[in-house]
Amino acid sequence: MDHKVLLKKDMKEKQELVNIILDRYLPRKDEYPKEVHKALRYSIFAGGKKLRPYLAMLAFQLYQDNVEPIIPVAAALEMIHTFSLIHDDLPDIDNDEYRRGKKSCHAVFGEGEAMLAGDSLLVSAFELVTLAEIDPALRSQFVREIAHECGAVGLISGQMMDIACEGKKVDKKTLNYIHENKTGRLINLSLRLGAMAGGAPEKELELIEEYGRCIGIAFQIVDDLLDIEGTQEELGKSIGKDADVQKATFPSVYGIEASRKQAEDLIHKAKTAIGGLGERSRMLQILADYLLTRKS
Ligand code: IPE
Ligand code: IPE
Ligand code: MG
Ligand code: MG
Ligand code: MG
Repeated sequence: MDHKVLLKKDMKEKQELVNIILDRYLPRKDEYPKEVHKALRYSIFAGGKKLRPYLAMLAFQLYQDNVEPIIPVAAALEMIHTFSLIHDDLPDIDNDEYRRGKKSCHAVFGEGEAMLAGDSLLVSAFELVTLAEIDPALRSQFVREIAHECGAVGLISGQMMDIACEGKKVDKKTLNYIHENKTGRLINLSLRLGAMAGGAPEKELELIEEYGRCIGIAFQIVDDLLDIEGTQEELGKSIGKDADVQKATFPSVYGIEASRKQAEDLIHKAKTAIGGLGERSRMLQILADYLLTRKS
């Protein structure tokens, strides 16, 4: 099967598995407080690639045939990601009206409701992790690692630096810090948790994390490039916003060509690392290539 077709099919199948668990786990729209439940369901089922769950599931499948046990963890990672997007779009952060091909959460439900929907997704994600049928010792470790990677020294710190740097000239170190934290952490963590739950030996975990760190930064570089070169129709979010508010992006610091080259180099490095696992890493290799050419 052609690589693109294979990847699309596998991603779609796994997205559906995640959606089933999310739908089962999240409160119904008409449950109290329904404003919050309506808003969070709107955002989480608005579409999206479900990349983080996909990474967790692929990493798990490097070691296990049956993907079921990791799905709650994968779904929890998507809840955290969606919380970060809902809050990212708020007027005091990026002030974005579109997300996942629809009006953003606050534009439809109001700012307070969107904040609470994000809060709710973030907090409930931890509960979902504890429900996963994996080694109980791993469950508490996962809770701790998610809290650490997404907290004020991780994702939040990247988001903080991102808004603090608007309109300022940033050095390369700061730019890397933003991308590594706001985006790279959760991407790498998704792979790490999937691989650990699968039973990855330490040496292989290192290769998987090297892959994770590289694709994490590359993913955000491509996101920056798509804000310039993409279309709103394909992306499902507004374009040109980064330049408007003078965000610290790779293209703003290095230019378009050099940014693309860095993303390519990182993807190459990622593939070399994961190649150390042999034929088992095929889908992760295909995925890495797709991350460079994606249009949404
Ligand atoms: C968007 O993430 C925010 C970034 C970290 C760049 P995605 O591009 O994965 O968004 P969805 O989940 O597919 O909507
Ligand atoms: C978002 O980065 C990163 C997180 C939400 C943590 P961006 O602000 O570049 O993402 P988009 O472009 O709005 O999706
Ligand atoms: Mg942002
Ligand atoms: Mg944004
Ligand atoms: Mg962006």
